[in-house]
Amino acid sequence: MAGARPTVTFDAFTGRYAQRTAGMTASEIRALFAVASRPEVVSLAGGMPYTTALPLDAVGKLMSDLLATRGAVALQYGSGQGDPVLREHICEVMALEGVLGSPDNVTVTVGSQQALDLITRIFIDPGDVILAEAPSYVGALGTFASYQADVVHVPMDDKGLVPEALRSAIAEVKGSGRTAKFLYTIPNFHNPAGTSLADARRDEVLQICVEAGLLVVEDNPYGLLGFEGPPTPAIRARGDEENVIYLGSFSKTFAPGLRVGWVLAPHAVREKLVLASEASVLCPPALNQMVVTEYLATQDWQGQVEVFKGIYQERRDAMLGALSSMMPAGTTWTHPTGGFYVWATLPEGLDAKVMQPRAITARVAYVPGIGFYADGQGKRELRLSYCFPEPARIEEGVRRLAGVVEAELELLATFGPTLTDRVLGASTPSPGLA
Ligand SMILES: Cc1ncc(COP(=O)(O)O)c(C=O)c1O
Repeated sequence: MAGARPTVTFDAFTGRYAQRTAGMTASEIRALFAVASRPEVVSLAGGMPYTTALPLDAVGKLMSDLLATRGAVALQYGSGQGDPVLREHICEVMALEGVLGSPDNVTVTVGSQQALDLITRIFIDPGDVILAEAPSYVGALGTFASYQADVVHVPMDDKGLVPEALRSAIAEVKGSGRTAKFLYTIPNFHNPAGTSLADARRDEVLQICVEAGLLVVEDNPYGLLGFEGPPTPAIRARGDEENVIYLGSFSKTFAPGLRVGWVLAPHAVREKLVLASEASVLCPPALNQMVVTEYLATQDWQGQVEVFKGIYQERRDAMLGALSSMMPAGTTWTHPTGGFYVWATLPEGLDAKVMQPRAITARVAYVPGIGFYADGQGKRELRLSYCFPEPARIEEGVRRLAGVVEAELELLATFGPTLTDRVLGASTPSPGLA
């Protein structure tokens, strides 16, 4: 009798899917999720907020009281634009970063991820250009790919997006006869780069975009999680209401599981966003919005943000300390002043994607850099998150990682780049999200 053959699954629908599905690939992070969540693996991969630190009893009581007193409304359909009371609270939250907007111009979304989807849907035709930092948020790149946008990356340095590079990118896109629709930027505690856009550069970036007729899409989920001093005023705080679309989220300051985010947009854009959102989800979940509203109104939510900041700062310190005492020479990394992420660059000749299986074997997980680019850059780079593991685990994770990098360097010194590639298999970035 013939031995059992491995099952090959064919997708019977190939050939019938819309072209836009070609850009839809599993992100590096999702592919890692199963391995990285094994208990023996120290995961420096996922960007999960430390929800364990939330006042869960108080949130539980708030939710049951809400259902007992206003359950019929909380479990009902709601407004497509989002709960008006929540939109007022959102304006107060945005004001903490200098953003002044009217509740009428706010649209509540299912996380800021849905806001990215809606903005892309209303502005992007296949082949339109979106300018984005290099590297950029993997979830945004996934959305852009699914609408067949052409992402052109703009370099950053330790002060964030480089204005001169933005000018050149705009000129290059124009020179090639294509249309750039917007700049997508994460000015605070960038995911994945860990850097922030310098105050003075914010004005310059806005001015460059206005002159070029480009909207700025400012994605700011981490702005209130800075460790050093008050928040830097947002790009949208610079007095220009017409050229900036501002995205916020309660995922990092409260709870990602509730999936409540928002967009503040010029009025005409806001109208389109609501239509697009109604076509997509009818309305954001009423219950979750009411939970957020109650939480903001009755709990010391800003005190809780301070608690989160203390935890993340301690973890950031643990990671930076471990990196500087353990990483082999030639490795560099960013020094975030808030948020969740450190962006590291491996010594010349190493490839973070090729190294990944060895790291998993050594029981440490990270996200290889190529997933954060739309064009296959970033082979030597990787993202390390410090938001979830406790400091001692972070140190252990960095110890394991340093051991893996050292072993790679030895291999490189022994066999040279060509043979090392052949032994380990050269890294082949997959299209789109990689
Ligand atoms: C830069 C950035 N934008 C948007 C999101 C999406 O957040 P959410 O949909 O949970 O609000 C994230 C999540 O990690 C992020 O890092």
